[in-house]
Parts: sequence; structure tokens; C-alpha cells
Amino acid sequence: MNDPTRPKGPKIIAVANQKGGVGKTTTTINLGVALAQEGFNVLLIDLDPQGNASTGLGIGPEQRKVTVYDLLLEEAHLDQAIQKTGVEGMWIVPATTDLSSADIELISNEKRSFLLHDALRQPAVDAFALDFIFIDCPPSLNLLTVNAMVAADSLLVPLQSEFFALEGLSQLMLTKREVTQTANRHLRYEGIVLTMYDKRNNLSRQVEADARANLGELVFDTLIPRNVRVSEAPSFAMSVLEYDPMSKGSQAYRDLARELVARNKCGGARPGGRDG
Ligand SMILES: Nc1ncnc2c1ncn2[C@@H]1O[C@H](COP(=O)(O)OP(=O)(O)O)[C@@H](O)[C@H]1O
Ligand SMILES: [Mg+2]
Repeated sequence: MNDPTRPKGPKIIAVANQKGGVGKTTTTINLGVALAQEGFNVLLIDLDPQGNASTGLGIGPEQRKVTVYDLLLEEAHLDQAIQKTGVEGMWIVPATTDLSSADIELISNEKRSFLLHDALRQPAVDAFALDFIFIDCPPSLNLLTVNAMVAADSLLVPLQSEFFALEGLSQLMLTKREVTQTANRHLRYEGIVLTMYDKRNNLSRQVEADARANLGELVFDTLIPRNVRVSEAPSFAMSVLEYDPMSKGSQAYRDLARELVARNKCGGARPGGRDG
């Protein structure tokens, strides 16, 4: 982003929702790749012990020598943990199952909520000239997700277009508010994105109507449709944008990327976030 008013450093976006299977990893990968294809430099942080984002981008377990776990334990610097992906302009810090014990191991560390924040602000990061860092959060509101919220400028919340979608949101919003009050007063909402949307399904349309009525501008105009190509792509270690560029899923993630960029261009110095 060649915006002279923009402060130095990438925009850091945490992709979070404590529900599993709502499209966090899918959105992190495909939105990240869509932005990389637009010419932005994107880093993806896999913060889920399941390592789905790493796998989905073709970083197999044997390639995960230095991981986000080493970063959190301050045993590695970010530039040692960063790996190139097959996508031009896109890097990843992978995750392994080790990460599942980080919660317990870090409990007595006074800086435990700030470890990712500090890791992402090491000077060596500047060399990558990153525009965006996306953090793929685990399906919980644990210390890992708190680290993501403390490190981030904004929260991007994927919401699956199905019954009870809005139910878990209040818990997430409470945690966000707590983080804002205690550790990161700059944290904003990037927005809420409806995923696995089926326009022929009444329920999808109802969830969309409820979300727009209750959350207003926070909800992205772009809807991510349920699309089989999106779900097939990870098993080929690819984003859907590489696997089937003309699919509806690819088109939707390109639209989302453009909407996100547009939102970040209007307003103040580091815009795009909204209070809430
Ligand atoms: N738009 C979509 N269309 C079809 N399947 C999808 C779509 N988005 C996600 N999925 C599938 O839904 C499952 C859960 O998605 P995932 O991104 O892993 O969720 P989370 O990271 O929130 O747990 C995966 O199998 C994924 O392939
Ligand atoms: Mg996931």
C-alpha cells in the first residue's frame, strides 16, 4: 500500500471466531492469496495447533522446523520462522501440534499476552516490506487468540451462514472489549464476513439479514458462497485462486480483497478499522 499517510509497517489482521469450521483458515489463505495476487506482500501466521493453514499452503510437517511456537517461546526470531510459499508475495510462519501446549507453558510468563505482538515488531520484519499480516486463530478464546488480538490492528470475523451463527459472537466481542481495555486499545473490527453462503437457502438469507440488521456496516458487502472448489483446493496444497481461478469461490475472495483494500483507503492514517 503506497499510502504516504500510512504509518510504517504492515496492517495486522487477526482472523478469529471461537467456533470451529466457520471458514477462518479458508478465509485467511484465500484472502491472503488474493491480496498477494493484487501485488501486496502478505504474511500469514498459522496460530492454530492443527496447522491447517500451513498444510493448505503446501508446508508439510517435515518443513516446519521453526514455527510460531518457537516465536512465542522467544526461541526464534520472526525472520528465522518465516518461509516462502508457492505464491509470489506470500510468506508463512507455520504451526505444529507443539503449539497446543503453549497455553500451559506460558502461564507464568509475565509477557504471555504480548509475545506475538513483540515478535511481529522485530526490526528484521521490515526487510519483507509487508503490507498485511493475517493471523489464523484457533477455534477458541484462549491465550493464543488473546495473543493475536493484542498483536493485531483489527479483527476479521468469519461467520458461517447457518443457524446459531450469531450466538457465539457476543463472547468474541466481550473478549475483544477486554483486550481493548487492558492490552491493545488500538484494536478495531476489520469486519465480519459471511462464509459458506447459499443464496437459494432461506436460512443463509435470514442469517445475512440478521447480521446486517444487528451489525450494520461491520458486515462486508461481499458474501463468500458455499463452493465445492473452495473445499477441494487445500487437498492439492493450493488456494482456490490457484486451483480454480474462475470458480465462484475465487471470484468472491478477490471481491473481498478489493473491498478490504477500499475500506482501508478511506478515512484516517490507519483506517479500515471500526470501533465496536
Ligand atoms: N466457501 C466455502 N465453500 C465450501 N466449503 C468451505 C467454504 N469455506 C470453508 N469450507 C470448508 O469448511 C471446512 C471448515 O473451514 P475452515 O476454514 O477450516 O474453518 P475454521 O478454520 O474456522 O475451522 C473446511 O473443510 C473447508 O474446506
Ligand atoms: Mg482453522
